[in-house]
Amino acid sequence: MDINSYSTWLEIDLNAIRNNVARIKDLTGVEVMAVIKANGYGHGARPAAQAAVQGGATWCGVARIEEALALRRAGISCKLLVLGYTPPSKIPEAIDQQIVVSLFDPDLAQSYLDFARINGGILKAHVKVETGMGRLGMLPKDVAPFLKSLRGSPISVEGIFTHFAQADEPQSDYTHKQIKRFNQLLAQLESADLKPQIVHAANSAAVFNFPEAWYDLVRPGDAIFGMAPSTQTLLGPDYLPALSWKARLISVRTYPAGSGISYGSKYVTSASERIGVMPIGYGDGFRRIDNQEVLVGGKRVRVVGRVCMDQCMLQLDAVPEAKVGDEVVLIGTQDSETISVDEVAARWSTINYEVVCGLADRLPRIYLE
Ligand SMILES: Cc1ncc(COP(=O)(O)O)c(C=O)c1O
Repeated sequence: MDINSYSTWLEIDLNAIRNNVARIKDLTGVEVMAVIKANGYGHGARPAAQAAVQGGATWCGVARIEEALALRRAGISCKLLVLGYTPPSKIPEAIDQQIVVSLFDPDLAQSYLDFARINGGILKAHVKVETGMGRLGMLPKDVAPFLKSLRGSPISVEGIFTHFAQADEPQSDYTHKQIKRFNQLLAQLESADLKPQIVHAANSAAVFNFPEAWYDLVRPGDAIFGMAPSTQTLLGPDYLPALSWKARLISVRTYPAGSGISYGSKYVTSASERIGVMPIGYGDGFRRIDNQEVLVGGKRVRVVGRVCMDQCMLQLDAVPEAKVGDEVVLIGTQDSETISVDEVAARWSTINYEVVCGLADRLPRIYLE
């Protein structure tokens, strides 16, 4: 694809994803489920899934059945788990497409059974257990009777999992308590001969901070894209960021002192200033806030005036040679300067997850092999 034909685009380094999955597989020595929900954390679900599988992932995890079905339609044949809610009416498709669903509510599971009986075939499932996340999951005391009730039914429970609330805080005792609750349940199920075959718990943060939670499979999302799960859980240099966000200057003009820039004229030039226009705005997932920086000519330049839906303006005095067509980097490296997704997240008072998931569909994704 010709990058020169775009005014803004995302570059996704598939080798980085392959590398990051392979690093996690080497580190843990267990199966890897690449979590690629929300369009692969904005990177593109199908290419991310493909690269993850090439890196050694044997599973992909998604939030919704629609995401799993789209992956199947795109030819992704690895094992797929829907980590969130699946509407009962979708169970026939789950069975036909070999998509594994999560069970977290006995009443919902009963509806799944009804659909499975009508459809025929076996629905594969993993039971999700609430150990402290306070979101979805069955209480540990309800799991054994539930598993017993499914024996001989068209639901085959092949896995059991839980999710951590604070695994990104290595010094917090909370995750140890969650692991203890989960282990107690696993021991109880083992002694009743009810323990499902595949046990999993670890998101990216737990991959690095809680090796005792690796079990049979780990479930990283953020780290496979080379992003740190939190400021307390940074990634080593072996992990490579997969995403860059770039654009081109589409206009450069010198304004006289006293010129208002953008809506509301909140920025007024204090002298003769060179102002560039970048074709990116909040319609692309760029935040409408002050005090942002991007790279032009290997230097940091300020975004000035209000961010519009499709454009924003840059103060180019630091790069007098900048001209129309020059590359702008919002996330990534230019010469020796880098703006990381974490820097952008800090500026936006959020986490890197939200930055990448908010990147608009209209941004072309260019995949680098
Ligand atoms: C159930 C579940 N497992 C795994 C993950 C992956 O988490 P992370 O991106 O922090 O590795 C998520 C993401 O939120 C999740 O909801």
